[in-house]
Amino acid sequence: MTHAIEAYVSTLHCEYTDPLALHAIEMINQYLIPSYNGDMGARKKMHDAQCLAGMAFSNALLGIVHSMAHKTGAAYSGGHIVHGCANAMYLPKVIKFNAREPEAAARYAKIAKYIHLEGNTDEELTDASSHASVK
Ligand SMILES: [Fe+2]
Repeated sequence: MTHAIEAYVSTLHCEYTDPLALHAIEMINQYLIPSYNGDMGARKKMHDAQCLAGMAFSNALLGIVHSMAHKTGAAYSGGHIVHGCANAMYLPKVIKFNAREPEAAARYAKIAKYIHLEGNTDEELTDASSHASVK
């Protein structure tokens, strides 16, 4: 999910990476929990979603979450701070930080609308997306 969100909000996003990122976000939102609960069909969808997100970020690149998560993982590799957990810790804070920029806020809001989070303004939708990312 972090790969897709960061690719979508990246300053290098483009017409080719946006659909990949948004579709990955939609799929992960739908299939992550059933996958965790053992649904094998959902696990296949998660494999597809991670590949779509990878295609998006391979072209749009990533953001501050990954900048910090890579450093954290390297510094505390003996402490078992796995990459995905580091991303999950940083993502809500980075969303709030990045959303100070109107273009980023609009993109976070579009993500929130895309997965049917509640909110009427970019600020409310961005706030909803930062809370949803920690659920
Ligand atoms: Fe990553």
